[in-house]
Amino acid sequence: MHIALVAPECVPFSKTGGLADVVGALPHALARLGHQVSVYLPRYRQTKLTDPEIVVRSITVPYDDRYRFCSVVSGGTQSGAQFYFVDYPAFFDRDALYGTPAGDYPDNAERFAMFSRAVLEASKVLRVPHVFHCHDWQSALVPVMLRTLYAEDPAFRDVGCTFTIHNMGYQGLFPSEILPLLMLPWDLFTMSKMEFFGQVNFLKGALVYSDFITTVSKKYSQEIQTSEYGFGLEGVLRARAATVTGILNGVDYEEWSPEKDKFIAAKYSPEDLSGKAQCKADLLTAFGVTDTNPKIPVVGIVSRFAAQKGFDLITQIMDRLAREDMIVVALGAGDKEYEEMFVRLNRQFPQKIAVKVAYNNELAHKIEAGSDMFLMPSRYEPCGLNQIYSLKYGTVPVVRATGGLDDTIEPWDARTGRGTGFKFTDYNGEALLSTIRQALLAYRDQTSWQVLMRNGMAKDFSWNASAKEYVRVYERVRQLRAANAA
Ligand code: ADP
Ligand code: GLC
Repeated sequence: MHIALVAPECVPFSKTGGLADVVGALPHALARLGHQVSVYLPRYRQTKLTDPEIVVRSITVPYDDRYRFCSVVSGGTQSGAQFYFVDYPAFFDRDALYGTPAGDYPDNAERFAMFSRAVLEASKVLRVPHVFHCHDWQSALVPVMLRTLYAEDPAFRDVGCTFTIHNMGYQGLFPSEILPLLMLPWDLFTMSKMEFFGQVNFLKGALVYSDFITTVSKKYSQEIQTSEYGFGLEGVLRARAATVTGILNGVDYEEWSPEKDKFIAAKYSPEDLSGKAQCKADLLTAFGVTDTNPKIPVVGIVSRFAAQKGFDLITQIMDRLAREDMIVVALGAGDKEYEEMFVRLNRQFPQKIAVKVAYNNELAHKIEAGSDMFLMPSRYEPCGLNQIYSLKYGTVPVVRATGGLDDTIEPWDARTGRGTGFKFTDYNGEALLSTIRQALLAYRDQTSWQVLMRNGMAKDFSWNASAKEYVRVYERVRQLRAANAA
């Protein structure tokens, strides 16, 4: 089967979060299963291509009363997948992917509408896939256009489209006037299609027009059908419940494993954990923490700083947390509000919380390896990758029981010696504090703590199983299309 992934970011070409890791790894897993895979991405300033070759010189994209012309360059093949980039410097050659800390770029609707239309047009030149697999709101217009503007196009008659929701919190909301400017039919602006409280909602369009919808964990696929987690789209999802499913993200253990990691001070494995102490010392040095007892547990954080991630809970309890024997090491960037919050905490409790406001992949690896615990108190978490990485590094996750965090972490039970981490359910500081205290208490018994570490290290969340589940979805989509066409 030929599958075309359409996504706004992908490792190693562009990244703001876990979506990039997923889109970077899934194509290779699909190729290993014997499928042909193309990946369509925007060509951003941060996209580094060694030998770019123009493969489609000019694609006409109408906007308002004029035409824009973009091109598509090939980034070559990697592990069996072919990478294509939509090139339009005025839109994509910018400092950031979607916006600055001050807010989103004002022309995001135009940018990603162009991207989506260019993918459809380019595929007709390069090769029409059996199934498009689109990711998040930035590619949501692919299914919309496929079933409206391009519905009569013979090239796409049998082509299926599946859509993966990585985060319901980002929907692509724009003023209704954008529809005619993008040359999209005005009748999309109804409640049963893309209208959403007076605005146009790109994600809603994808949920209406895709043949199948997936999200990145089983638990999240259920949560988003409730008003607590659906961000207003729970009704649309419930209406499509028969074609909604959760497929847990895999991770790439070539990149994220203490036995192979090229960024860490010493490699280690479940059989020989001794290198971890060196990683811990190296991490503390990197964060300028020098006068501490190596026996004191280190709690790591690596995250986008956003409301989703639940860090407001830390402020609620930090004065009491500061009295515990532990040190927090946090790396993150994002919303100004949370960046400032962490800087403030560091100023208030310099002995207890070390902070770097930055995006730094090497430090992210050092934190995974050098911490004893990893904290993710998320308000919601579609899948979450860092807790899965943590398991492999013997860094015990302390998480809120939501979405993929709940699906991947099993509570530690010292009596049976089973479990991989610690979790709490109620979204409040007290619940977080008592769970951290439980973990700190467990840490004191180093013999059973090592059992806990090894339980996590033995877990396998590699892509193989999830890629097979995606293939089943693609097959289902093709059957649905065939039934439709008949
Ligand atoms: P999300 O996609 O919601 O941000 P995930 O847990 O799925 O959360 O993925 C986050 C990914 O981004 C991980 O690979 C993590 O290491 C990386 N990451 C997040 N913040 C930073 C940062 N400040 N520096 C380096 N890597 C980061
Ligand atoms: C999103 C989610 C995160 C998930 C990632 C990859 O950004 O916030 O939970 O792991 O996408 O699917």
